[in-house]
Amino acid sequence: MYELRNVTKRYSRGKEAVHALAGIDLTIPDGDRLVIQGPTGGGKSTLLQMLGGLDRPTSGEVVLDGVDLANLSEARLTRVRSESIGFVFQSFNLIPTLTAQENVETALVPLGIKVKERRELAAEALKSVGLGERLGHLPSEMSGGQQQRVAIARALVKRPKVLLADEPTGNLDEGMRDEIMDVLERLWKEHGLTFVMVTHDSAIARKAPRLATIRKGRITVKENAGA
Ligand SMILES: Nc1ncnc2c1ncn2[C@@H]1O[C@H](COP(=O)(O)OP(=O)(O)OP(=O)(O)O)[C@@H](O)[C@H]1O
Ligand SMILES: [Mg+2]
Repeated sequence: MYELRNVTKRYSRGKEAVHALAGIDLTIPDGDRLVIQGPTGGGKSTLLQMLGGLDRPTSGEVVLDGVDLANLSEARLTRVRSESIGFVFQSFNLIPTLTAQENVETALVPLGIKVKERRELAAEALKSVGLGERLGHLPSEMSGGQQQRVAIARALVKRPKVLLADEPTGNLDEGMRDEIMDVLERLWKEHGLTFVMVTHDSAIARKAPRLATIRKGRITVKENAGA
């Protein structure tokens, strides 16, 4: 579970300072599914970076299972990231020269898993997102929806506790968007993941059980009883 206490993030650009996060208090229980929306520049991606330990807050605490990520050494933070947190971004961020299977395997390298087991786990993860027939394909040989499914397999192959997704359907057309959402929904249920997703898609936001809105670095959270 996450407990954020008065998290701020200030970027300085020359003499100007941008308060990307202006004091966020937020609890995310284990197994939660939280959708974050809000206007562009509001601080959504910044918040996700704090949750994922990709960047540190200017002040405040980002506590994951009792450990404050803001104060961890770089080495321990990297370990938490590679063991416990999966990321999916709007741009799929696949390595163009590696096959689907090799791309998924990259997530297992820092965990010290041997080549043979890596291959098997990657193949299994790709099967679970419906790409069992595409193991040897390069990113350029797959559709956008398929590439995003490879990215999802890469995020989940290590069985993380947390999945963070920043506009995962932002680069996809409507049909593929639904397909990716179905995959994410199913994996969330199967893995008992804590799932935090940023989206501009109002249809997805309407169906979210918990909906957070971030505006000018401040957050409000609503329970959505109808979802
Ligand atoms: N590395 C950076 N250096 C300086 N300012 C930054 C940096 N990253 C983000 N910002 C600023 O922080 C604010 C919040 O940015 P953020 O990317 O979190 O917004 P967002 O809600 O994700 O927007 P979008 O919907 O467009 O993705 C913006 O004003 C942005 O310009
Ligand atoms: Mg963003």
